[in-house]
Amino acid sequence: MAFNPFDLTGRVALVTGANTGLGQGLAVALARAGADIVAAGRSTPSDTQKAVTELGGRFHFVHADLDSVGVVQAVVDGAVAAFGRLDILINNAGTIRRADALEFSEADWDLVMNVNLKTPFFLAQAAARRMVEQGEGGKIINIASMLSFQGGIRVASYTASKSGIAGLTKLLANEWAAKGINVNAIAPGYFATNNTEALRNDEGRNRDILARIPAARWGRPEDLGGAAVFLASSAADYVHGTVLAVDGGWLGR
Ligand SMILES: NC(=O)c1ccc[n+]([C@@H]2O[C@H](COP(=O)([O-])OP(=O)(O)OC[C@H]3O[C@@H](n4cnc5c(N)ncnc54)[C@H](OP(=O)(O)O)[C@@H]3O)[C@@H](O)[C@H]2O)c1
Repeated sequence: MAFNPFDLTGRVALVTGANTGLGQGLAVALARAGADIVAAGRSTPSDTQKAVTELGGRFHFVHADLDSVGVVQAVVDGAVAAFGRLDILINNAGTIRRADALEFSEADWDLVMNVNLKTPFFLAQAAARRMVEQGEGGKIINIASMLSFQGGIRVASYTASKSGIAGLTKLLANEWAAKGINVNAIAPGYFATNNTEALRNDEGRNRDILARIPAARWGRPEDLGGAAVFLASSAADYVHGTVLAVDGGWLGR
């Protein structure tokens, strides 16, 4: 059979927040490319499990509330215990809080920074330690945002966390590229998930957002699959520290 640089057969991928939305789309895309999936999060990912196993992939769930870094080693150990190794990490789980900056609370700051930035860093650290031990490199993909490039509005901690994850992606790439670990990010544009429900329910915001997207529609979770499979595969072996926008053209507008 012809060599397929996007083939993930035999690779084990850990995806956080894979029960719904983008994480589910990412897990299914990696499974379709041949990877075994370990999902980590606080909600049981029954639909994702069904989709992955129907594709013939193996699936394992590690229960973890990712607002605290205390869980990261157990998550990596759970993946390795299930399938013997860890090759790919997708830091997808994320949360958002909306309020005017004048009113923004410390609790909303801390929660979002913990889930979106602190835990992803320490999970990447735990995963990379395992990848170094295995000696075959690995792929780490952080889920960034348009707010890794832009300021946004009424989402102070979200913007700080997603701008932070873009910087962290480059730092980790600088430190780990020579170890054969590729660290990159995907910056989704506006996707129809729970995360953006408030925006889509606001008629004015929904209209303004759609008017600025050259592709003229909200993104669907499956729209991220190609970018994720690429960055998780040997096709991206020389790609380090990039933040790849998958945004229907939003940033170019
Ligand atoms: N939708 C967009 O347009 C968009 C754009 C740019 C970036 N993103 C990013 O994409 C990622 C996925 O978001 P989504 O749009 O798919 O939103 P979503 O449907 O709300 O999914 C978020 C995921 O993160 C999990 N999560 C949140 N807090 C958690 C915690 N404390 N512990 C464990 N898991 C937790 C959620 O679990 P539960 O189901 O249990 O809450 C869920 O699995 C996030 O990083 C988000 O910032 C989304």
